[in-house]
Formats: sequence, C-alpha cells, structure tokens
Amino acid sequence: NQHMEEMHDMMEGHMSHDEVVPLNDSTGENELKIPAMLEPDNEEGIVYTVKAQKGQTEIFNGIETNTYGYNGSFLGPMLHFEKGDKVKIRTINELDEETTFHWHGLEVSGEADGGPHDALQPGEEKVIEFEVTQEASTLWFHPHPHGKTAEQVYNGLAGLIYIEDDNSKSLGLPNDYGKNDIPLIFQDRIFDDKHELNYNAAMNDDGTVGETLLINGTLNPKLTVNQEKVRLRLLNGSNARNYTFKLNTGDSFVQIATDGGFLNAPVTLNEVTLTPSERAEIIIDFSQFNAENDLALINEDGYVLLPFEISDQNGVNSEIPGELNDFTLTEEEKNLPVTKKVELFGMMDMVEINGKKFDPERIDFTQQQGVTEVWEIYNKPDMMGGMIHPFHVHGAQFKIISRDGEAPPQNERGWKDSFSIKPDETVKIAIQFKHKGVYMFHCHILEHEDNGMMGQVKVE
Ligand code: C2O
Ligand code: CU
Ligand code: CU
Repeated sequence: NQHMEEMHDMMEGHMSHDEVVPLNDSTGENELKIPAMLEPDNEEGIVYTVKAQKGQTEIFNGIETNTYGYNGSFLGPMLHFEKGDKVKIRTINELDEETTFHWHGLEVSGEADGGPHDALQPGEEKVIEFEVTQEASTLWFHPHPHGKTAEQVYNGLAGLIYIEDDNSKSLGLPNDYGKNDIPLIFQDRIFDDKHELNYNAAMNDDGTVGETLLINGTLNPKLTVNQEKVRLRLLNGSNARNYTFKLNTGDSFVQIATDGGFLNAPVTLNEVTLTPSERAEIIIDFSQFNAENDLALINEDGYVLLPFEISDQNGVNSEIPGELNDFTLTEEEKNLPVTKKVELFGMMDMVEINGKKFDPERIDFTQQQGVTEVWEIYNKPDMMGGMIHPFHVHGAQFKIISRDGEAPPQNERGWKDSFSIKPDETVKIAIQFKHKGVYMFHCHILEHEDNGMMGQVKVE
C-alpha cells in the first residue's frame, strides 16, 4: 500500500536528531540576560500592551541578526500576574505576516486563548480580557498561526508569564527576580554563515534542532550567583529538542514546581527531563559551594548549558518549606472511566492524531465546562520504533493519573499542561476546563504541530 511505502521511505532517512546534532558547550562569555518585567500601561486598570514585531539583535558580538520579538527585537518581556487579577491585554501584530497570541498554560476562555482561529493580520490589534483564577506558576506565551508556529517561535517569539498567589508569597522561597529567582528559556538554534536564523534552511520535518544553545536569547551564557539558594524556572522553549538537566558535579537539587503549580513537597533529584514546552522550577543550594567550584548546569550527554560563577557574597538564607501545596488526585478521579482516546502516530510530515491531520473545520471532541473527564493518550510505535512526543492541551491544567498503569513519578504529581510520552506508552490524565471555547491539543514539537499533529476539543 502506497501510504505504507511512503512511510517506509521517509523512515529510512530518519534518525533521532538529538543524536545527530550535538550542542556546543557554553563558553560562559556572556552574563545571562534576564527578560524585563512588563509594566502595565496605566496605574488603575491592569492593561498591558504586547506587540509582535521584527527587529535586529546582537546575538553575536558586533553582528546584527534579524529576529522577531514581543515589545522588542528578540523574545519578550515577563508578564507578572497575581491570582484574582482582571487582566486586559492589547495585542498588536506589527509583523508582515499573520500571527496569534497564545497563552500557554493559562486557563482562559477559547476567545482569549489565541489558537490558530484567532489570527491577527499585519497591522491589526485585539484586546483580550480574562481573570487569573489559577494558582502560582510559570507559564509562557508564543504565537500559534496555522502552519507557521514553528518558524515564528524559532525567529524569537516567546515570553514568560509568572503567576503569584497568597501561597507563593507566604512560602519564603527565593523570589528576587533576576537575583535568586531566575527564568531560563532554553532554545537551540542554527545560524547560517551570515549569522541569520534562516528557518527555511534549518527546517526539519521532525523538528528543527540546532547546535547553538541560547538561554533567554544569550549566546554562551553564564550565571553569577551568590552563595544562597537559587530558584531556577526552567522552560524548554525549543522547537523539538529534549533536555535532561543535571549538575556537572552530580550533586542533587530539588524540584518545587511543575508546569502549573507547586508540588506538595520538594522532590530531590539528580536530573530532570523537559520536553518542548514543559517547565520545572528547581532550587540549587549554592551556599554549599564557593568561587573555587566549577559548577555548571549540563545536559545528560555532558554538554555545558550554563556555567555558574559563584560570588563570595552570602545571599539570603532561605529555608525550603517541606509543604508547598495541597494538590490531590482523588480516588474518584482515578476511578473515572476513560471517555476520550488520543492516539499519536507518525514522524516527519506524516504525523497524525487518531489517524487524522488537523482540520480547522473539524471538532474532534466535545466536553462540558467544569466536568472532569479522563483522557487516555497512547503513542503508537511505527516500524522504526517511534519517537517521544510532548503532548499539550490548551486552556487547562490537568493531572497525570498514570503512566502505563503506574502512578507517575513524584515530580509529575502536580498540575501539568504538557508531558512527554514514549513510544508504546499510555498516559491517563484527568482534565477539566473552567471556561468555554474551542481549544487545541497537539504535539509540542512545533514542526509536528504545523504538520497537522493537532486536534480540537470544543468545551460547551
Ligand atoms: Cu504552547 Cu498550542 O501551545
Ligand atoms: Cu498552549
Ligand atoms: Cu510529535
């Protein structure tokens, strides 16, 4: 059969890009850039302006690279919300092509979610409104135009959202932004010989993977820290690469938060893996190290991602509380029947969900607002074995019930909006939508998403 033959031909040429494209070690030449915190437009209302624009950025010394950014030439500012805030955002498209403004992980109505149905043409603007009803967490925003998401993110459209609440403010965790509370947006890129991002040349149907790592847009970054506990908010903002973060010394650290909130208790780990779009907040205790130590965050394969320079300053002496949250997966949720099945299959441009490619005119599932359902997601292997897909659902934070029938690892027992799924693995989640609207669910390898590995759930 024709389809199988094509599939086989495609797979012949296929190899895992994580293996083929190694990362360059960071030389630690440049101090890590910290995204600016976005100020509201005026004192009274919580009104922000977020503008997608083109620009030029000095990523390499003395060389301008053409890039995209929000309110600037590259990446975006950090939006800081408090639970309970009623937020208005004026979104403006100053690009020469259509775009959307998607708030990844934010529980908002379909109208505000910024999926592919919400494209703004060049020059257009739209005001969206929502109330922040979810708990403290690290979320992000990026474009979502149909078939163009990967390229626009690759060119630089991505920004952070922090949510704070009474709990997060009472825990006494490191929270001095840019000092001991550091966002880290990991993105691998390929630059051509003119130091341009040139997406079309770099593009790969299984996801663009580059040898040059940028953290918060910084080439060859290092982070200077005091001898204190430092909170790192890790975001895998790459199109396709997975990272397994560890310390070069093998020392442990603690994870305190998942995509959508705090874990109930800190989890001690030697490494943490994030697939595209996943977040983790970790705390490293630098008070046990000094300037003599050669400490770095590395990838599992040994590549140096972020060297630390430890100053001789003592910082704040913070304690990490043993209790951080009251997240629960109830017996009732565990025992609900599976009402939706999602089968992920394929690779390169032959990716599909439940045997179909994305069709903006087709609603794949419906679900009632405020009703918890159990979705079962299965990653069907192909004749080459298959690959890991990061699965994401818009508009909701959900709970992982099980992986292949077993309870998820400790550090996944918290709110999630994305998770990795291995070939032949089955993951069950309990998911409830607080708002109405049409929401996307998709693989967060952005090229897979653009190639149609996406479906729609209508919440009514
Ligand atoms: Cu990061 Cu469709 O989302
Ligand atoms: Cu999303
Ligand atoms: Cu995928």
